[in-house]
Amino acid sequence: MAQHTQKGKLMEHTGQPLKASTSRRSFLRKGLAVGAAGTLGAGLLANGVPAFAQSGGITPGDAAILRFLSALETLETDFWQQYNELGGVQDSEVPGGSGNPTYTAALAVLDSDMAQYIHDNTEDEFTHFTFINAYLVSKGAQPVNLDQFRTLPSSKATGAQKIKRLTNLMQLTVDTSYWTKYRSRTKNPDFGDTFPPAVPGLLQGQFPAIPRSDKDLSPPDHIQAIANTAGFHFAFIEQGGTSLYPSLAQRVTDKEVLRILLSIGPTETMHFQTWQDKAGNAPPLTDPTNGLVFPDLNAPPFDGEDFNTNLIMPEPTIFLSRTFPVCSIIRPTETEGAAMGALKALTDDGLFIGQSKAFFTFMQDLAAAADAA
Ligand SMILES: [Fe+2]
Ligand SMILES: [Fe+2]
Repeated sequence: MAQHTQKGKLMEHTGQPLKASTSRRSFLRKGLAVGAAGTLGAGLLANGVPAFAQSGGITPGDAAILRFLSALETLETDFWQQYNELGGVQDSEVPGGSGNPTYTAALAVLDSDMAQYIHDNTEDEFTHFTFINAYLVSKGAQPVNLDQFRTLPSSKATGAQKIKRLTNLMQLTVDTSYWTKYRSRTKNPDFGDTFPPAVPGLLQGQFPAIPRSDKDLSPPDHIQAIANTAGFHFAFIEQGGTSLYPSLAQRVTDKEVLRILLSIGPTETMHFQTWQDKAGNAPPLTDPTNGLVFPDLNAPPFDGEDFNTNLIMPEPTIFLSRTFPVCSIIRPTETEGAAMGALKALTDDGLFIGQSKAFFTFMQDLAAAADAA
């Protein structure tokens, strides 16, 4: 559909009669069929002029990158809304839900402004996918709509809307290695390095980040563990966006599309920085219902530069080549396979547990097309 629109604009612009452009149209048709599979960077006209240059549209590759980002932002919005309904601020900017006082209070242990921050992060995600979809439409490209995949259950706890969701916040396996990744002065994931998690227990099972029902509201250390899980999950998600935007920006063709990625990406970084700071306030405890341990990151064996909770600025580390001086940077930013890598990280996180095969196929196709751009 996007392609037809683009072609229509092309005709209008060049004023060529249909008859004279038969070969070009058949080339475009062939090219676009390939483009849909994600292997054609930019449709070229028979005379070698990029199709987008005459149509005012964007390249299939740029559209594929934006479509993948739109899908991820839609998914982000879905789970941030679940957090906001239970633990944020429900208002006209972010409607839905009525709040869960016990969960909200447990989150407030990390920072008294948590509810406001959750609200603001949720609104940001909503604007990200809405903007990208509107931009795609303005360029004659297809937007992304995931509504058909809203099949997962809501929390039964007081405060949550009882509607179908895209994501699952009740069986998370949160990778907190971002904590040590940004504190290392000698390692970088782009060099194949790996990093120990700040909360090893969160990688060793499936844990709720929201109360599944009102039964989860007690005992106090259980609901606090759920709030702590959320606190570390917030930072996990947003550090992913922090890497994804610069990774994909390297393959964008159009300056305006690049501007979009360079303008949205750093807001993910603002989120990450805030959440990392708040996660450091999660009280050390053991969940009496499942044994999940939140260690004291300022005491042995966890203390030191890799774990101390006030070290939230990135440490400089190796970048591009070990022959260069170290540099304070976002990491990773490798562009190859970045979209599929992001999808895998979210899948491993447990966010899509219960989703249909069709959902995974749909998302993998979007990621593959973005990575082929
Ligand atoms: Fe976002
Ligand atoms: Fe985000």
